[in-house]
Amino acid sequence: MKKEYKAIIFDLDGVIVSTDECHYEAWKMLSDEEGIYFDREINERLRGVSRMESLEIILERTEKIYSEEEKQEMAARKNGYYVERVMTIDSNAILPGAVDFIKMAKNNGISVAIGSSSKNTKLILERTGITKLFDAVADGNDVKNSKPAPDVFLKAAEKLGLEPSECMVVEDADAGVEAALNAGMDVLAVGYAKNNRKAKFCMNNLEEAKGEMFNV
Ligand code: BG6
Ligand code: MG
Repeated sequence: MKKEYKAIIFDLDGVIVSTDECHYEAWKMLSDEEGIYFDREINERLRGVSRMESLEIILERTEKIYSEEEKQEMAARKNGYYVERVMTIDSNAILPGAVDFIKMAKNNGISVAIGSSSKNTKLILERTGITKLFDAVADGNDVKNSKPAPDVFLKAAEKLGLEPSECMVVEDADAGVEAALNAGMDVLAVGYAKNNRKAKFCMNNLEEAKGEMFNV
């Protein structure tokens, strides 16, 4: 598989870095304050989905109508709780095999980029100390339409100066797999999305994928 692609575009949360618990706890705090039911099953539906769209999913469990201003305030409050937690993470939050996989890709002449819905991408890369590993970063600040729209992956390819067909995406979210397919890119699905049948390749994580891709 390595010879086919000029670049690999990685989703961040759930692929490179484990921030799941930070997101869950922050949404749980907000939901509890608002008296809205929220559990881990609902939380799974937020994977890969932008902050405002995630809030809309959470609001499905309430009859209350919130104004646009109230929604903005709630999203900001959740982000405050989230950032508080992200500020405490470090390189221990990097998922198994991620750094090795990226380094092996680069050693094989493959460019690497981030394509994430998160507006906190730069902060997370800094906290985990991996900013310099990437040739390009496209995130929630670069695009209007979030996954499953293809925008963030197209943006990453554009920043790398490559055609979509030259890129492979690594994703852990079904919305992200859709986004990559909509961008015309092949997908390696890992983690939560590892059974996604639309993906060209499916593996448990990057630790397993590095063996398959780079024969180690
Ligand atoms: C994605 C996460 O990477 O980023 C989602 O999987 C999250 O759960 C989304 O909602 C947006 O993140 P942020 O940091 O901009 O609120
Ligand atoms: Mg993800």
